[in-house]
Amino acid sequence: MSVKEQVVELLEANKGYYLSGEKIASYLTVSRAAIWKAIKSLKEEGYIIEAAPNRGYCLSGSNDILSAVAMSRFLHDDAQNLQIEVKKSLESTNSTAKEEAMAGAIDGTVIISEEQTAGRGRLGRSFFSPGQRGIYMSLILRPQLKAEEAMLLTTIAAVAVAEAIESICNKKALIKWVNDIYVDDKKVCGILTEAAFDMESSSMQYVVVGIGINVFEPQEGYPLDIKNTAAALFPMQAGDKRNQLAAEVLNRFMAYYINFAQREFVPEYQRRSLVIGRQIMVIYGKKTYPAVAVSIDDDCHLHIRLDDGSEKILSSGEISIRIT
Ligand code: BTN
Repeated sequence: MSVKEQVVELLEANKGYYLSGEKIASYLTVSRAAIWKAIKSLKEEGYIIEAAPNRGYCLSGSNDILSAVAMSRFLHDDAQNLQIEVKKSLESTNSTAKEEAMAGAIDGTVIISEEQTAGRGRLGRSFFSPGQRGIYMSLILRPQLKAEEAMLLTTIAAVAVAEAIESICNKKALIKWVNDIYVDDKKVCGILTEAAFDMESSSMQYVVVGIGINVFEPQEGYPLDIKNTAAALFPMQAGDKRNQLAAEVLNRFMAYYINFAQREFVPEYQRRSLVIGRQIMVIYGKKTYPAVAVSIDDDCHLHIRLDDGSEKILSSGEISIRIT
């Protein structure tokens, strides 16, 4: 770990309290000049560090830069063993997670990035991921599940995000089947689950669950193509929210994941549906057709009624809500 990383770790662990340069230097067994240089560079990176004569340095309580140390303060027992890696910028946390999974990363590795330069969404779409505004994270899992059960990891992630938003942000969050989280009828989170299946042993090699949450509205607003459908949880930067929210998503995810067989997430998923009883458009390849969303069953499949009165069950796919 570099001196700078060690200083961050120390300041995060003592957030809101002053530590003298002398104490930090002796604890890390480096010179005070090295500490000064590290602090200067951290401030340039955006860390809010207060400096006071005779007191030293203090990481402000409102500092919101993502870090594993900051997150670990909010993690419950089930999530404490996750291996959290925080990066400044990646093309896509899912792409990096897949590379790391193929290179042998352990179950429970989490890749988080402050920004994504080529964030990916479902169906080959992009996911807008501006720096310091959102949570872009991917969990590498190696579950003993059948392919159809692994689909339910998306469901778990959706419930985990909705619950975390409600508990940390005090906002009602609903789930648009399959994998989008909405607050006040706008999308605040998307989930992209990717998996590798070993045909020979008929088992999952790894699953990557990618979660993108719009936490703070970007200064320049959203790009035109998503301007009317996307929103952030907060209009502007509001204190140290992202570390807490990311940790809470992981807490909720792990609690359901560890007890997967009990499927406690299913009623929560059904209860939070944004679509049941509503007119929808089903998008199937290049075709779209209207329907009514009737119910979500215990495998989290969507039951729909078509205009001719017939019923269909969708196990995956894309729907949009028809405004009539
Ligand atoms: C969607 O809305 O279609 C899914 C969006 C998923 C975005 C997340 S952000 C973290 C992870 N890395 C990616 O490139 N995509 C997912």
